[in-house]
Parts: sequence; C-alpha cells; structure tokens
Amino acid sequence: MKTIPIRAEPHPPTALALSPGSYPASGPLTDQRGREVRDLRISVTDRCNFRCVYCMPRSVFNKDYAFLPRNALLSFEEITRVARVFVARGVRKLRITGGEPLLRKDVDHLIAQLAELPGVEITLTTNGVLLPKLAQRLRNAGLHRVTVSLDAIDDPTFRAMNDADYPVADVLEGIAAAEAAGLGPIKVNMVVKRGVNDEGVVDMARHFKGSGHIVRFIEFMDVGSSNGWKMDEVVPSREIIERISQVFPLEPIDPNYIGEVAERWRYTDGSGEIGVISSVTQAFCSTCTRIRLSTEGKLFTCLFAQTGHDLREHLRSNADDAEIDRAIASVWVARGDRYSEIRTANTAQTRKIEMSYIGG
Ligand code: GTP
Ligand code: 5AD
Ligand code: SF4
Ligand code: SF4
Repeated sequence: MKTIPIRAEPHPPTALALSPGSYPASGPLTDQRGREVRDLRISVTDRCNFRCVYCMPRSVFNKDYAFLPRNALLSFEEITRVARVFVARGVRKLRITGGEPLLRKDVDHLIAQLAELPGVEITLTTNGVLLPKLAQRLRNAGLHRVTVSLDAIDDPTFRAMNDADYPVADVLEGIAAAEAAGLGPIKVNMVVKRGVNDEGVVDMARHFKGSGHIVRFIEFMDVGSSNGWKMDEVVPSREIIERISQVFPLEPIDPNYIGEVAERWRYTDGSGEIGVISSVTQAFCSTCTRIRLSTEGKLFTCLFAQTGHDLREHLRSNADDAEIDRAIASVWVARGDRYSEIRTANTAQTRKIEMSYIGG
C-alpha cells in the first residue's frame, strides 16, 4: 500500500514560517504548518444547472435562495490580477470552479487572460453538459485539462443524484467533446454516497476502463451546512478498491507529485488507472497547498472554512499590486488549517461555507 507522505506534526519551523503579519517580501510563502501555496482555485459563479444532492440540495437551493448579484462577482480583470500576484508567489496550478463554471458568460475570455501568466497549468472542473458547445473555445483560449463530474453510469441513479433530470448521455457527450478538443486525458469525479450510488461503483469503473480517462471515486464530505452529511453515508475508499479489485484486479501506483489529492491505482491488465480521494478516512491536510478565491473575491484557506478574507475590498479601493500581495501573504502565513484531520461528528455540524460558493 502506497501512503501519501506525511510530515511529522507539528511541522518543524522553517525559515519562512514566520508569525502572522510577518513574511518575506518576495518568493514562496509558507504557512504555519510548513506548506507552500501552489494551487489557486477560482470560483467564477455560485450558480449551477444541477442540484446534486450532496452539494446543492433542492430544499435549500430553491427559488428563495439568494445567489450573488452580478456586481458582486469579481471581473475577469480582477481575477487575473489576483492570479498574477499568486503566481509571483509560486502558484503553478489554476483551477476554474463554480458552481458550474461554464455558466459564467465568456469564461473562455478569462482563460485567455490567465493563459498569459507564465508557467501555470490551467484546469477546470465542470458537470460537462456545456462542453459540446464550449470545449473547443476553451482549448483555443489556452485551457489545458478538464475534470468532469459524473456520479453514476446508470441513468435513473444519475438523474436522481443531479436532481435536475440531466441524462448520463449529456455528460458522456461532453467528455467526448473535451477529448476531441484536446483537453484529455479527462478525470471523471464520482462522489460516492452509501445507499444512493455506491452499488454502481464497479459499473462506473467498467465503463471507463480502457478509455484513457481516469475515474476518481470521492468520499462524500461534510462541506457546507446544507447536505445533511452523516458518517454512515461515507463509503471508505478501502471498500471501493476492494469492490473493484474483486472484478478487475488493481495495484497501487506512486503519486504524480507530492500532495496529490487522489491515491492512484492501476488495473493489473494494463488497461488504465483509477483514483480514490479519501478526505474523510485518510486526511491529506499535511500536504495541502491549495487556496480558494470565491466568486465575490474572498480568500478561503480551507474547503471547510467558516470565514473568508475579503480581497475585493482591496481590489476596488485602488490598492496597488504590492498591497494585494501583502494581503495575500498575511492570509497564507497565518494559515494553520487541517480540518479533515480533526473532523468529528460535532465539527461536521458547524456552519461552513457552501462548496457551490467556494468551488470544489
Ligand atoms: P489534478 O491532480 O490536477 O487533477 O487535481 P486534483 O486531483 O486536485 O483534483 P480536483 O482538484 O478536481 O479535486 C478532486 C476532488 O477532491 C474535489 O472535487 C474535492 O471533492 C476533493 N478535494 C480537492 N481538494 C481538496 C482539499 O483541499 N480538501 C479536501 N478535503 N478535499 C479536496
Ligand atoms: N463531497 C465530496 N465531493 C463533493 N463535490 C461537491 N460536493 C461534494 C461533497 N459533499 C465534488 C463534485 C465535483 C467537485 C466540484 O466537487 O463531485 O467533482
Ligand atoms: Fe453543480 Fe458541481 Fe455542485 Fe453538482 S457538484 S450541484 S454539478 S457545482
Ligand atoms: Fe486542505 Fe482544508 Fe482540505 Fe485539509 S480539509 S486538505 S486543510 S482544504
């Protein structure tokens, strides 16, 4: 069994892990646990055409739900400016998220602006149904890869999970369009919820086996405050690997890079690989290098944060890049997050930011 490298806790102090408010004038930023900021995840809309039961349950995200007004959203220029400052601090991966990011008008224009930044990989997470229309435009704008969410290959199960009656075929068309546009190999995310779609895990693996695409099975998480998370609805990744292995033998393989969220497994017959993302049963906080920029310009240093840090205020008050950099640096160096390591039944009940707002 391969394990993700875990540093001893508490992390040994490093030259850059300074006290809050004190940080190097340039170069990489290190937080209170010795982690550098490497990935910026940018949410471009809090809206979605799906109502996935684990993310935007219809009981909460209904016609009375107050989505953000247009003027609250960061503009593409504002987002690019923030990204530029992060890149100067060592960020190497930008992921566009939502809500459903392809609902944001002209999102390919944002990609084109971000693609001007040096040395970054640009990726996007989508439910896929708008890809037939947009994949080629996104690729032409400079997008490198897409990750597509698909929670079942069985149509009735998928329709029940997205709760907006979208068929599996729409997503498969999206995946095919992305591949044809050169956005592959594609990662396919399946959130597994016990009693809802877990019976379809092997069918999902079978469908994509040999296709070159990589299915990742994700443990249902207690993000937000609306999805009614319960521990007994989590299917541990171990169980998923066992179930698939009984039909298609698997063996573990090394991560592509330190801190990779998914644990990789390959079919012993050489027909490809799958991944499991075990945020609940095997936390990976010790190597977490991610920061999130919300649709309205708040920085969140953890997916399970309760509060963010408002950057929009700075962006709209004539702050220069050095001031934006100071704001960013002060947030990162003060960061000590490790929610998944300290999750309990009680923390799961706390009020947290919704995933559709902060991005996945
Ligand atoms: P690539 O390696 O670039 O493909 O990205 P990735 O493996 O990080 O995949 P992605 O960013 O799409 O993350 C996949 C899923 O893992 C997300 O949708 C979340 O459900 C979960 N995840 C990602 N980052 C975190 C994190 O920081 N904390 C927790 N708890 N879960 C995360
Ligand atoms: N638990 C696990 N993964 C989730 N996602 C959204 N909500 C949850 C949750 N509660 C995943 C989606 C998608 C990405 C945006 O985040 O499946 O792949
Ligand atoms: Fe929309 Fe993705 Fe949330 Fe589903 S998981 S409701 S597709 S943002
Ligand atoms: Fe990072 Fe927070 Fe996820 Fe841990 S729970 S991996 S600190 S985002």
